[in-house]
Amino acid sequence: MKCSLCRKKAVERLRQYKLSLCKECFVKFYEKQVERTVKKYKVFKSGERVLVCISGGKDSAAMLSALTTISKEIEIEAFYINLEIENYSDVSLKNVKKLCNELNVKLNVVNLSEYGIYLSKAGKKKCSVCGTAKRYIMNKFARENGFDCVATGHCLDDIIVFFFKNWLSGNFEWSTKFLPRMEGFDKIVTRVKPLYLMSERENAIYCLCKELPFTKDNCPYAPKDDWKEIIYDIEKKKPGFKRNFVANLPKYLNRKTNLEFKHCTICGEVTTAEVCAFCKLRKWMEERR
Ligand code: FES
Ligand code: ZN
Repeated sequence: MKCSLCRKKAVERLRQYKLSLCKECFVKFYEKQVERTVKKYKVFKSGERVLVCISGGKDSAAMLSALTTISKEIEIEAFYINLEIENYSDVSLKNVKKLCNELNVKLNVVNLSEYGIYLSKAGKKKCSVCGTAKRYIMNKFARENGFDCVATGHCLDDIIVFFFKNWLSGNFEWSTKFLPRMEGFDKIVTRVKPLYLMSERENAIYCLCKELPFTKDNCPYAPKDDWKEIIYDIEKKKPGFKRNFVANLPKYLNRKTNLEFKHCTICGEVTTAEVCAFCKLRKWMEERR
């Protein structure tokens, strides 16, 4: 298989674009796609300070690398939350340090235990505890350190899976979460997803082509997701399905956050209840220790 653009040996065939690309052409293609997404959805405003959240995995590694090459108008720093999961987190931290070093990006690291959260004590709820804690910590860290927005490595596959899960459970109050840019309000910092239109596979190939350090193993606590397989099967029969579906989502979503919010009586962060999910979690953890 030869590259459709330069005739060198191709590494990937992109069925929906009817293109085969070599390493160098794939890297250029990928960065161009991220740049287009960022422009199309006005993901960033000029001069913004962006906290780029990285986990050590392929998606966020690809995001950080692509952002350093395309965004001259923003200022970026990386942020890693050490989940302190035996073996897995040590490898991730090593990769994250190497990545930031290579890309010349300042890295900020915090440990989950600094915030009173210990996944080892969370029993069967590890994943949901982890999700709640990460969202809370990212937001608080970004705000307290003067960042204008938080970027996460959520990609096409994540967005489509979230969408179906929420659609089926009738949960659409927070539909703005599916947008590539979710404006902040009160104490909530703006959230952006620069990889909105990139697939997991494209992120992985980009990392391999650029030889970026990333953790190949998934988090040992991550549950198997049948939805990913279902979507993969549709994409196989209908190349381009995922991208077209997600690209059109913003047209249908209500951009207003109509949720009524309060401030947590314990920590003062934004919540819809008296006590926020994170403080409830911390209380639950204390009782288990
Ligand atoms: Fe959070 Fe696995 S439990 S990444
Ligand atoms: Zn709270």
